[in-house]
Amino acid sequence: MNEIKRELLYKGKAKDVYKTDNDDEVLIKFRDDITALDGGKKDTLSKKGAYNALISSKLFSVLEDNGVDTQFLNLVNVDEMLTKSLDMIPLEVICRNIAAGSLLKKYPFEKNQELVPPIIQFDYKNDEFHDPMLNDSIIIALGIATQDDLDNIRTITLKINEVLSNFLKERGLLLVDFKLEFGFDKDSNIVLGDEISPDTTRLWDADTLDNFDKDIYRKGEDGVVDAYKKVVNIVLTSEEKDKWNVDNI
Ligand SMILES: Nc1ncnc2c1ncn2[C@@H]1O[C@H](COP(=O)(O)OP(=O)(O)OP(=O)(O)O)[C@@H](O)[C@H]1O
Ligand SMILES: [Mg+2]
Repeated sequence: MNEIKRELLYKGKAKDVYKTDNDDEVLIKFRDDITALDGGKKDTLSKKGAYNALISSKLFSVLEDNGVDTQFLNLVNVDEMLTKSLDMIPLEVICRNIAAGSLLKKYPFEKNQELVPPIIQFDYKNDEFHDPMLNDSIIIALGIATQDDLDNIRTITLKINEVLSNFLKERGLLLVDFKLEFGFDKDSNIVLGDEISPDTTRLWDADTLDNFDKDIYRKGEDGVVDAYKKVVNIVLTSEEKDKWNVDNI
C-alpha cells in the first residue's frame, strides 16, 4: 500500500475525495458502490472500484498522450488515483455517437441511430433538481460558466470523443456515449476531471453490440463486474496487467 496523508474532503456516490499534504493535489478513491436510476438502485460490487480506477487511469493517460489536459497524475494503489485538485464545474457534459438510453425516451430517434455530428448535451449536476438538461443561456444566467468556457468545453469534448473512439474501436469496442466533468486548475485552465469508466460510458462490442457498461446493472442483469473486468483486459497492455496483478484483484 502506498500511503499518502489524507483527510476526507467529499464522499460521493461512488468515490471518496481526500485532501493530501499538497494543496494542488487530491486523492480519489474508487469505491465498490454502484447506483443508478437517480439513486433508486444501489449495490456494492466487489472489485468494481479497482476496475474503474484502472480503466480511468488508462483512458486519462491515452488522452494526455494526445494533448488533452487531464487531472491524472498517478495511480497510487489499484483503486486510488492521485490527481490535480480542481474547482469543479457542476456540469455533466454528455457526448453521444449512437442513440441509446434516455435520448430514446425523450426524442424520436431510432434505436442505435448514428448521430452525425455527435450530440453534446449539458446536464446540471444537482441531485436536488434531478440533473436537468441545460442550455448555454441557462448556464450563463446561473453563473455556472461563461460562453467562452462552454465553447472551450465543447472543443475539448469533441477531441476526447475522437481520441477515445479511435482507441476503443481499434480494440473492438464502440464508444456509444459518455459523461465528462471538467474543473479549473490553479492557473484557471479547464481540465478534465472525475472519471471515464464503464460507470460513465456506454461501451458496446463492435460486432455483437453487447453492453460492457453500467446498462447491465440498470437492466438488472448479472455479470456487470465481469464485463468491467473484460474492459480492463481490453484496454490495458500485458505489462500494465502484470504491474497491477489484474487476475488477482
Ligand atoms: N480532480 C478533482 N478535484 C476535486 N473534485 C473532484 C475532482 N474530480 C472529481 N471531483 C468530484 O469528486 C466527486 C466524486 O464523487 P462521485 O462521483 O462518487 O459522486 P457524485 O458525483 O456526488 O455523484 P454522482 O457522480 O453519482 O452523481 C464529484 O463531486 C466530482 O465532481
Ligand atoms: Mg460522480
